[in-house]
Amino acid sequence: MPGARPTLYISRLLPDPVMAVVRQQFQLVAEPFGTVPAQSALREGLCHADAAIVTLGDCVDAETIHVAPRLKILANYAVGYNNIDLAAAQQRGLIVTNTPDVLTDATADLTWALLLATARRVVEGDALVRSGHWTGWSPTQLLGAEVSDKTLGIIGMGRIGQAVAQRAVGFRMPVLYHTGRAMAVSSLPREWEYRSLQNLLVEADVVTIHVPLTPATHHLIGSRELSWMRPTAFLINTARGPIVDEAALVEALKRGIIAGAGLDVYEEEPALHPGLAQLKQAVLLPHLGSATLQARVQMGLVCLKNIQAVLDGRPAPNQVH
Ligand code: DGY
Repeated sequence: MPGARPTLYISRLLPDPVMAVVRQQFQLVAEPFGTVPAQSALREGLCHADAAIVTLGDCVDAETIHVAPRLKILANYAVGYNNIDLAAAQQRGLIVTNTPDVLTDATADLTWALLLATARRVVEGDALVRSGHWTGWSPTQLLGAEVSDKTLGIIGMGRIGQAVAQRAVGFRMPVLYHTGRAMAVSSLPREWEYRSLQNLLVEADVVTIHVPLTPATHHLIGSRELSWMRPTAFLINTARGPIVDEAALVEALKRGIIAGAGLDVYEEEPALHPGLAQLKQAVLLPHLGSATLQARVQMGLVCLKNIQAVLDGRPAPNQVH
């Protein structure tokens, strides 16, 4: 039908300002819900769409891609795209895009929130006040660790890793970094020093992870790597859960191999490895990295920009390869 709006599948309800644009410009294949769709519903939705916005909880595997012959673009509502079988998409000429830049600050800020909350026992403090058992100020109550002047080790120096490093200045924290390139990155400030993974883990007081999840980074941090860390050190992960061997982490926390962990992501999200929830030295967030209204609206608009480009026959600004 001439002038008909293109069909769009959205796997989850997005913030109102994004939905308003969506409803104006597209014909929705199905009304999105706030919860993860069943795999059958995801397939059914993609099968009838010209374009789709999917999220990190949607597994877009080869089989799912092959049942969606008219689909031209999969706009992933995230910077990470490990939920999509990229090889299968490329094989069938399906364009995949992500949402870089717009969530960098939100995720870097959340990383620092988690880092400070873990080191300074913020969650335990909140629980104590709410419990009604707080008897007042005490010189020995909930003593935490200072992060100022301590060494920050960053694994992965992409946009988010760099934004985390920039925020370390206010805490006078020297920055060490490791990337998969096995050498210093010449474009990075000289005061940020490259280390091998082992040396970074040995030297850092706080280790924070900012690499994408790929076969090479799966379980990058396991029991051997945790054993290289200091018993006073903290591990922060706002990247992807499976980069850390969660069973090994629970064991390391229980045995005092490291002092604490701040996690925003989990290996089998939303499930937790048995024992993790009981550990007070772990601060656990429900994957809030990009969860600001500003970032989530911008992420939606970036998805729509990419979709519009592809449907108009132009290159997608954020195509991933
Ligand atoms: C991302 O974009 O990969 C984030 O994890 C979403 O919150």
